[in-house]
Amino acid sequence: MKIIKIVAYEILASGGYPTVEVKVTLDTGAVGIASVPYGASAGSHEATVLVDGDTTRWNGQGNLKAVANILTEIYPKIADIPAENQIDIDTAMIQLDGTPNKARLGGNAILAVSLAVARAVANSKQLPLYKYLIQTYNLTTDLTKLPQPMVVIIEGGKHADETTDFQEFCVSAKEQGSVTENVRKALETYHQLKKILKEHKLSTNGGNEGAFAPNGIPNNTDPLEFVTEAIKRAGYTPGKELGISIDAAASEFFNGNYELKLENRQFTGEELIHYYEEWLDKYSFVSLEDLLSEDDWDNWVTLNQILKAKGIKHIGDDLTVTNINRLRKAIELDAISGIIIKPNQIGTLSETIACCKIANEHNIMTITSHRGGGETNDDFIADLAVAVGSAYVKVGPTRGERVSKYNRLMEIERELRGAV
Ligand code: PGA
Ligand code: ZN
Repeated sequence: MKIIKIVAYEILASGGYPTVEVKVTLDTGAVGIASVPYGASAGSHEATVLVDGDTTRWNGQGNLKAVANILTEIYPKIADIPAENQIDIDTAMIQLDGTPNKARLGGNAILAVSLAVARAVANSKQLPLYKYLIQTYNLTTDLTKLPQPMVVIIEGGKHADETTDFQEFCVSAKEQGSVTENVRKALETYHQLKKILKEHKLSTNGGNEGAFAPNGIPNNTDPLEFVTEAIKRAGYTPGKELGISIDAAASEFFNGNYELKLENRQFTGEELIHYYEEWLDKYSFVSLEDLLSEDDWDNWVTLNQILKAKGIKHIGDDLTVTNINRLRKAIELDAISGIIIKPNQIGTLSETIACCKIANEHNIMTITSHRGGGETNDDFIADLAVAVGSAYVKVGPTRGERVSKYNRLMEIERELRGAV
């Protein structure tokens, strides 16, 4: 299969700024369209999102340079590579860029092409995307176990103003079972949470990811009480059908010390670990993500031993940035038991899947995740999560660009059950 046309352009992401979308046409007539998200609390080791810096448009956040790079550099470079050779296409783009973090051409430019090519070939082969990914990357995924919902229901940090220091409080499915049923249980919990926030005279306005961003909440622990209560009021038992996950996104409140503004407290890493330890037996946690800053390796190792003993998954996001080198270091140090997977952190599909394979080989749980800065309606990550056998998909509960991911996951479930 040969790529005969690539079109690239700016579209609007959910954050109100542009992002890149690419349309790839093959000589078979098949077309693949893909767009890429960006983060609000992006880790410093992530691939570069190349923006124009031209303050006369989009406050400097335009993506025309990335678009131009696709048309003038990337397309000529990959035009003669068979489209089904996804790894060769991704490798050619990595080499053409020539920087360690895709700073020259832009991770946004490279990833949009990478994903659109994959989708075009899957369409051409008339395969669902997840099946095409399984074939192309020789994955040995058990499709009887689909990724389960990890639904962000309270958000703060960089995702909303005047609310919690920690970025996300999630309700996570605990039982395998049907994705569709587990999405329902998690969203029923979200609706109960709204009533509970109102009872506490807290705002139920939304944040970036469509979760509640309660203004004026007095501390970072109340959300844990509220989510626990919401699970119960929805008719479930915390720790049985549903549990709690947190993403602290701690790099965002680390400035040499960890500063919890809401509580007017400053902690060293050791002190912050003690703060977290008080929670561990009180709440039904499934997983805890980025509780420490992205380069605080020693404290990550200490915390991992504590969480392991409690059976709680310890998840790297800004720590690992979907990067095999950082994942390998985390495995060697025994710093994590799970990893967030976000294709735009690394910038190609092949590197993303290589990272998942290493995680799977080392029994590191993968959670495929949306981005909080600007998402698009592209549901690629749902197919990716299924293909690599992620335990969870982490996405917000409302807004079109969020629910599109759950809807695709439920569609895949129907497809696999033969009930399309
Ligand atoms: P981001 O945050 O996409 O805004 O960086 C989401 C997360 O940290 O999981
Ligand atoms: Zn995170």
